[in-house]
Amino acid sequence: MLKRIPVQQLRLGMYIHEFCGSWMEHPFWRGAFLLDDPKDLKIICTIGLAEVWIDTSKGHDVEGGASTAAVAAEVDAALAQVDSPGKPEPRAGIAQEAARAVKICAKSKQAVASMFHEARMGKALDVGDALPIVEEISTSVMRNPGALISLARLKNKDEYTYMHSVAVCALMVALARTMGFNDLQTRQAGLAGLLHDVGKMMIPTSILDKPGKLTEAEFETMKSHPVEGHRMLLEGSGIGEIALDVCLHHHEKVDGSGYPHGLAGGEISMYARMGAVCDVYDAITSNRPYKNGWEPAESIRKMAEWSKGHFDQRIFEAFVRSVGIYPIGSLVRLESDHLGVVVEQTAQSLLRPILMVFFSIKSNARMPPELLDLSKPACKDKIVSHEDPLKWDIRDTQALWSGMEVTPW
Ligand SMILES: [Fe+2]
Repeated sequence: MLKRIPVQQLRLGMYIHEFCGSWMEHPFWRGAFLLDDPKDLKIICTIGLAEVWIDTSKGHDVEGGASTAAVAAEVDAALAQVDSPGKPEPRAGIAQEAARAVKICAKSKQAVASMFHEARMGKALDVGDALPIVEEISTSVMRNPGALISLARLKNKDEYTYMHSVAVCALMVALARTMGFNDLQTRQAGLAGLLHDVGKMMIPTSILDKPGKLTEAEFETMKSHPVEGHRMLLEGSGIGEIALDVCLHHHEKVDGSGYPHGLAGGEISMYARMGAVCDVYDAITSNRPYKNGWEPAESIRKMAEWSKGHFDQRIFEAFVRSVGIYPIGSLVRLESDHLGVVVEQTAQSLLRPILMVFFSIKSNARMPPELLDLSKPACKDKIVSHEDPLKWDIRDTQALWSGMEVTPW
């Protein structure tokens, strides 16, 4: 049985199913394991995690803890609270924007790759090389945020950093818009997102992509990337304060347990707190050599579960409003026993998006895809859960929302 317990209750002989935090924050372990080394237990207690999931069928149990049902109810309540009608915004059609966003993703990835590669070789970063990329990404996000954000999530296991930069840029722009930032502030947030992880270029790929447990020395090297990146940006030309700050502080946590400086709450700038949320969302939804990413709706739920202490609550709530409780591309199960893919959010409710319904569970068969707007008063159907496409052997969720096949970047 799975059970969530406070880290203080963790003992040797327990089986750790999952940490309640992004694996980017504590990359010692990237999968489930039996806790049998006292050194590991000591480290877990010092890395700023509040809770962990244990599997009591594979290791020792303890009194108390929270069941999966209790945690699910807690998350449902937290997300329902975020939901409120937004103002309808004129948006480009999702398929139309997806066609444009595919080209922007390809071009941006190339541009980021050459900019970061040159920076690694010692050439000073120039804001003039980065701004046109931010501009293109921003205009797509403003036409329709869901298209580029959902496409940028699909990553090749190699070359993760380049597309991660594009994705975090897009997420920062969308979040800044949701938070009511003006055009200049929105572009600055986007630029900060694009450059936040440039310091990863100084980390050997043998550590970045290592499939197993990192040694303490390797983890320390990994944790140097914000400081390395900040140094690279300082040596660059025209990089503003906001991008410098986000680069240095995107791994800080509001409870003070982050790095490099252990800043807490308001000591962390608004932009860096935004960067932390966008960075974690893209990291956990992306495939890495050592771990497959989680589905977007699953990731939103995990982040809601960990958000206290890790993220600024109000920024996390704005983030959920910007990408959705069921982000575009999520596979969901309806009360009517159909499966659908989320195609677009609606202004009425984050819990009632527009779907492409394509599968009948009762007859266990595909049906002709049909659009269903759950926010229409006449529609009596509703989402009962998000689903893992692999469990249903569904491999074309991308094509179902975007109208085209997309190869990971
Ligand atoms: Fe980072």
